[in-house]
Amino acid sequence: MAGATIWSLLEPSALLNPHPIYREWYGRSPVLWDPDIEAWLITGYDEAFTVLRDADRFCQDWRRVGVDTPPSLLSLQTLDPPEHTRIRHLMLEGFRTAGLDGVEQRTRARLDELLAEAEGAAGFDFVTRIAEPLTLYAVTGLLGVPDIDPAWFVPRSHTIVDSMDSSLRPECYEPGVAARAELSALVGAWIDAPLPEGFTAHVVRRAKEVGVERDILHNSLRVVLQAGFQTASRFLTTGLHALLRLPPEQRGPVDNDLAVNELVRYAGPVHVESRACVEDTVLGGRQIRRGQIVSMFLGAANRDPRTFDDSAAVRWDRTPNRHLAFGRGPHACLGAQVATVIARTVFGTIGHRYPGARLLAEPRPRPNVTEHGMFELHVAL
Ligand code: HEM
Repeated sequence: MAGATIWSLLEPSALLNPHPIYREWYGRSPVLWDPDIEAWLITGYDEAFTVLRDADRFCQDWRRVGVDTPPSLLSLQTLDPPEHTRIRHLMLEGFRTAGLDGVEQRTRARLDELLAEAEGAAGFDFVTRIAEPLTLYAVTGLLGVPDIDPAWFVPRSHTIVDSMDSSLRPECYEPGVAARAELSALVGAWIDAPLPEGFTAHVVRRAKEVGVERDILHNSLRVVLQAGFQTASRFLTTGLHALLRLPPEQRGPVDNDLAVNELVRYAGPVHVESRACVEDTVLGGRQIRRGQIVSMFLGAANRDPRTFDDSAAVRWDRTPNRHLAFGRGPHACLGAQVATVIARTVFGTIGHRYPGARLLAEPRPRPNVTEHGMFELHVAL
């Protein structure tokens, strides 16, 4: 493949802004074969939307194309309907049991404490001082489980995200397996412990009644903890970075769902989701063969000029805004509302309370192509 390759996405400048590469690929074809990794790179909105919605032709459960999945990875994220439907419905019950009010109150209270600690300083790191501890606190509250020490959890959690890019960085695979096992042990203790009524207590009690096996429940609770913490904390960082790069008069306020929706389209952290093709099919005029991988670049699809007017600009009142930042179809994000509540609380508070907030340095991006994030984001309030 001439020009930018998949490896080009690991360059620090591309990790901060991959869109020039995405545009180059899209210009060649919204569905482009990459012989280096033997996968289709999908940068077009319509094509990504089709794949996400069509679990018959494009699977998340790779056993359907003969690829083995270790039992420790079988969860709501890696099963397809109809098996997927049972665990997904059960987890939805968990989200409904927890509700959003508690998430908002807990986020607001902890945010006030963390901002009070940070605001006297001339500058501070938003990632480690606010985004990560706040999100972990909000997600454990949602799950109705004891607080977790960020110093223990956060490094293990990042190791798991690193392993999601192990096709590009194979050395990240084994540490990811070990970190996942450590998180599993934590989650196993919740399943065995008596917990007060809430998300986890509810799904543990109901699992047998609705026919969800213990291992699937266990792995799926780990997924909710990991996916919830990583995506929401990384969005606080990528979102604040994008906001503070705008001139102050163009910054929002991002204190409502419409504005959060536009920020997640423009600067959402999840850049790649992959599926395997189950039967020979045509997509965007290209012939896709059974067993081939299709990698959807959600960040690119969310700026597809065929779908979004003025797609590279932030427009706070954009409606409709049918972005793919939370996915679509059977695996669409279960935590989108939770993430929206956390984000509007944080961005709204910072926007109203500190209109002069500014970046102190360009951030150092984490080397993750799939899920973008930053080691640190130095800001002054
Ligand atoms: C801005 C923050 C977030 C973003 C951008 C995001 C993005 C996504 C995306 C793109 C998917 C689809 C994956 C696929 O199709 O393979 C997904 C699935 C999922 N998300 Fe989120 N997410 C966010 C926050 C959260 C939160 C806060 C939680 C939980 C508390 C959560 C839980 C999940 C779960 C459990 C799934 C898997 C659903 C399934 O496979 O059926 N997410 N998310």
